[in-house]
Amino acid sequence: MGSQPKTGINCPLAADCLVLPFFKTVWIKMNQPKRYLITAALPYANGLKHIGHLAGAYLPADTYVRYLKAQKRDVVFVCGSDEHGTAIPIQATKEGTTAQAIIDKYHPIIAQNFKELGIEFDIYHRTSSPLHHETAQEFFRVLNEKGDLEIKESEQYFDEAANSFLADRYIKGTCPNCVYESAYGDQCERCGKSLSPDELINPVSTLSGNKPIKKATKHWYLPLDRHEAFLRNWILKDHAQDWRASVVGQCKSWIDGGLQARAVTRDLDWGISVPAKDAEGKVLYVWFDAPIGYISATKQWALDNNKDWKPYWQDKETKLVHFIGKDNIVFHCIIFPVMLQLHGDILPENVPANEFMNLEGDKMSTSRNWKLEMQDYIDDFINKENGGPQLADTLRYYLTQIAPESKDSEFTWKGFQDANNSELVNIFGNFVNRALVLMHKLCKSKVPPLHPELFDQLDKDTIAEIAAAKQRVEDYLEGYKFREALFEVINLARTGNQYMQKKEPWILAKQVDENGQVLPAAQGVIDNTMHICLQICANLAILVNPFLPFTAKKICYLLKVVDRMLEWQNAGQLNLLRVGYNLRPPELLFRKIEDTEVAYQIEKLHKALENSKQEQAAPTIETSAATAFAPVKAEIVFDDFAKIDLRVGTIVSAEKVEKADKLLKLNVDLGFETRTIVSGIALHFDTAAIVGKQVTVVCNLAPRKMRGIESNGMILMAEDASGKLHFVNPEDSIGAGAGVS
Ligand code: MF3
Ligand code: ZN
Repeated sequence: MGSQPKTGINCPLAADCLVLPFFKTVWIKMNQPKRYLITAALPYANGLKHIGHLAGAYLPADTYVRYLKAQKRDVVFVCGSDEHGTAIPIQATKEGTTAQAIIDKYHPIIAQNFKELGIEFDIYHRTSSPLHHETAQEFFRVLNEKGDLEIKESEQYFDEAANSFLADRYIKGTCPNCVYESAYGDQCERCGKSLSPDELINPVSTLSGNKPIKKATKHWYLPLDRHEAFLRNWILKDHAQDWRASVVGQCKSWIDGGLQARAVTRDLDWGISVPAKDAEGKVLYVWFDAPIGYISATKQWALDNNKDWKPYWQDKETKLVHFIGKDNIVFHCIIFPVMLQLHGDILPENVPANEFMNLEGDKMSTSRNWKLEMQDYIDDFINKENGGPQLADTLRYYLTQIAPESKDSEFTWKGFQDANNSELVNIFGNFVNRALVLMHKLCKSKVPPLHPELFDQLDKDTIAEIAAAKQRVEDYLEGYKFREALFEVINLARTGNQYMQKKEPWILAKQVDENGQVLPAAQGVIDNTMHICLQICANLAILVNPFLPFTAKKICYLLKVVDRMLEWQNAGQLNLLRVGYNLRPPELLFRKIEDTEVAYQIEKLHKALENSKQEQAAPTIETSAATAFAPVKAEIVFDDFAKIDLRVGTIVSAEKVEKADKLLKLNVDLGFETRTIVSGIALHFDTAAIVGKQVTVVCNLAPRKMRGIESNGMILMAEDASGKLHFVNPEDSIGAGAGVS
């Protein structure tokens, strides 16, 4: 069973808990938090979210919450849309609409996606709500009035063409850490390093493509440097042991690197206005307001449910846990805790941040279109004819099995198929199915009685294993080790299968008397075997419920028990199903994932990548505006120019190049010969419409092969402000081959 898990609640009896189960239970109960507030990072409502997000924060949070709720603890699980920051207006520009339209479009889709995947928040709130605006402003005001913020004038990047200060996301440049050329002013998307715009090498404004200038502006800062001692104590001392090593490590390097004051306001027209004098045109920095979204979500939940929100944020007996991805660590472990501390609120008990999940050998990325969106999975698996909510559990299973808890992990479609087919179908589903089939066949469709006097060692060991498995699952869950916890659940099903296989009740059933009745001794063993197997099924439902809630419900349905059976305290026992109880006929819990489905998904992924490459290569209004007045290239002498042989040619035929959406194969008459030229203009011209057109050709360019076709020359094109391409040709039609100079 590998190493013994450490319990998350530090029970001094943990090691000998089997000898002192009663005392352990009492100890844990006494030390249990009074209530829990669980948060999952608020996703930006700027687009669909992918399974990397799901695996990073939402799925582990949901699993943990389901476990706590099965324990009947007092839990509130909050999340919602992060609707401020530059991510929103940037997306609005891309979609040619307003920021408001963007959040109104994506908020409900994301909420629905979570629901269909069984992520069950108590509230899915929005940071655009008036309640959140008030809450965030109040928070700022309190800190500002107590003198916890500093006001400083500084030089910030300003785009003269756009007449606007540039928020971090509007500045791109080279990452000083990994030399990636398209790093943003707040973070490098390649190496993940948090940056400030000043650290970027060769900064460029994404609004105009120009180099920004520096201009003075006033902002409010959170002086983190004042809180170094507190952070050192709280993280590096108090939580050095119980937080994940990667989280403590990241915090340590932040603290050791020297904490600085962070601006908490921005010059931007989208966000929450700064509630202070002389703050026109300024909004709260999105990372100041978003985590306060956890508080406003709790307030809204309390309003909706006639509860008091305050104890959840102010009573020390509340256990606050933030589930996030690793790119959010500094905000949740350093900045927000400092804010909470200053505001007089409780601090998180733990911040179980996950590493990243890659997809088929590459980093998941929305901008490169290398991703699997929740919506896509829902369309292709759950909402299909052979789908249904069970398929949500298949994804939940695989994502938990490969959870990037301590290092980056990798989603592959083959891995998804294997996890489903060999574990869910062959082990878990198979065990439950066989137990039901055999019960109907060998026990008259009823839960058979137990005959303890007939127990052998295997029966006793198997029964003991049910309780032991429960304890291990619980300990792993308390320690946020979801992968290992789930492994233990599957292992119990594996144990059940092996038990059944060794007992062979179908063989015993052949021991019959002259009337065809199974001999009593044999029937006694069959009853014991099937009784134990069915009780394992019921236990599996309870233990798997936090991970695969739809499956747990389905098992309850098959066993004809109410969902209340799923309460955690019921697990570990043999008394979940009553003797003589009549059960439903078996139904398969999981279906196989076919090779064709895997192949289809992989192909779809590659196609999407190809499409996005072409989209990015095709000039858009935004980029062409930026390049319309590209800087003049370095000077050349006349001889350099004279080396280029330019001639007028006439297009005599044009056809598309297979499997290359952008390329056309042209035959161009140059007077002295007809040449094949491959040109990347297929997205701009109809083949039929350009035959007969005159063009200017660079005809002494070295031949180049493109898609297996040798291209002998290049056609000159001019690009207008909208990104449209035009041929460069003589005003009047002239003979092919005329020289251009
Ligand atoms: N929207 C952020 C992201 O997707 C997360 C915000 S978490 C919160 O990275 F704490 F600020 F809400
Ligand atoms: Zn980098």
